[in-house]
Amino acid sequence: MFPLRITGLRFQPNGRAVLDGLDLEVSGEGISVVLGPNGTGKTLLLRLLAGLLPADGGTIRWGEAASPSERLAMVFQQPMLLRMSVFTNVEFALRPQALTSAERHRRTNEVLERVGLAHRTGDCARLLSGGERQRLALARAWAMRPRLLLLDEPTASLDPSATEAVERIIREIRTEGAKVLMTTHNLGQATRLADDIIFLANGRVQEHESAQRFFARPQSPAARAFLQGELPWRIAFDH
Ligand SMILES: Nc1ncnc2c1ncn2[C@@H]1O[C@H](COP(=O)(O)OP(=O)(O)OP(=O)(O)O)[C@@H](O)[C@H]1O
Ligand SMILES: [Mg+2]
Repeated sequence: MFPLRITGLRFQPNGRAVLDGLDLEVSGEGISVVLGPNGTGKTLLLRLLAGLLPADGGTIRWGEAASPSERLAMVFQQPMLLRMSVFTNVEFALRPQALTSAERHRRTNEVLERVGLAHRTGDCARLLSGGERQRLALARAWAMRPRLLLLDEPTASLDPSATEAVERIIREIRTEGAKVLMTTHNLGQATRLADDIIFLANGRVQEHESAQRFFARPQSPAARAFLQGELPWRIAFDH
């Protein structure tokens, strides 16, 4: 289902163009991080890819096909958890898959162990802290063994140690062969995790570059302005 090729993607609620002919190609390996100012359509892009809402124009091609041939999973900024146990939140998500009950239980226990929630399996998911909820949401997505994992600001409002725990999980998921496409406002996180940066502004991809090159020398004026605004104490690009 890769490369994922997006051409001329448009989203214009009430005639206001949020995505205005966005072009993007994403490979099936590594972690791609979408950066950009508030309201530029980062979350929207992930939602369009997940098929959660229709675009107003343009095409999304998954390899040679019009829809993804393998599984994709999305984790939202505010994960939606069922008012059930931690265990059931994962196990329930696996029910549509053709797995035996024993295999479902095995996988559920395995991912909960790996995200450090094995001791909380019986607790109600709604009682978890923000960082624990995020780890549970990742475990649930991971258990589904997606080929593509879409993460929308997975560590927004988490403290440094919870952020580190989530980043470790994201790296492990990547290492196991899933493609990760994520957004973040944490530029430190982007430098730690990203293989490539997709910089979105004014309805389009302004720049798509290896993370190393993007942070060393952003090419587009919009990306320079963004980084200068976010990191005013560090950045003084030469022209
Ligand atoms: N389903 C929708 N219907 C109408 N407008 C929408 C819809 N989804 C998003 N928008 C609008 O599209 C714009 C982009 O929203 P989006 O949430 O993608 O921004 P973002 O880049 O994720 O911003 P942030 O950094 O604040 O998370 C916003 O102005 C939003 O109001
Ligand atoms: Mg967003």
